Amino acid sequence: MSLLLAALLGYLLGSVPYGLLLTRAAGLGDIRAIGSGNIGATNVLRTGNKKLAAATLALDVLKGVAALLIARAAWGEDAALVAGFAAMAGHAFPVWLGFKGGKGVATGAGVLLAAQWWLGLAALLTWIAVFAATRISSAAALATCAIAPVIAILFGDVKLALFALGLAALITWRHKANIQRLMAGTEPKSSFGSRKA
Ligand code: G3P
Repeated sequence: MSLLLAALLGYLLGSVPYGLLLTRAAGLGDIRAIGSGNIGATNVLRTGNKKLAAATLALDVLKGVAALLIARAAWGEDAALVAGFAAMAGHAFPVWLGFKGGKGVATGAGVLLAAQWWLGLAALLTWIAVFAATRISSAAALATCAIAPVIAILFGDVKLALFALGLAALITWRHKANIQRLMAGTEPKSSFGSRKA
């Protein structure tokens, strides 16, 4: 029962589409009609409003952190992991948006940081390093997805590795259009654009 409650809590927290709500509130219209069409911070940045992008990033990270920490406090570690994954599912497939949500990078970072801080930190540093080298947000996210489970394995934490693998699989799946563009060499660097993906 507690795992079910954790899943519900995580899903509901994760399903709040902050990028969409903030851009609407700022009078910028529907973020899904701008740039890549994603509701995440990278795409909010394409509106030209850096503060809004930073707020989207912070809130998307925090909802992942909150889901995991609340469930951990209420029901323990297994429920925390369930809530963390459910928060990712809520972000990617929110009932409020017809199950068409975001890609889960920021929420995944929050979930991972709250699940195990050193793995979250390693993932964050990986993202920063790859982004610094490529200036492509999706490339940084996909590289981090590939590396995070391996880091957990190297530190001997199989359960955490499987959890990270689950998060990474969902994020990678949500980046299908980005992967196609990366392979075609058409994925834009982090700047403002008008593509619809
Ligand atoms: O965090 C999402 C990022 O990896 C890709 O975003 O808008 O370029 O598809 P976007």
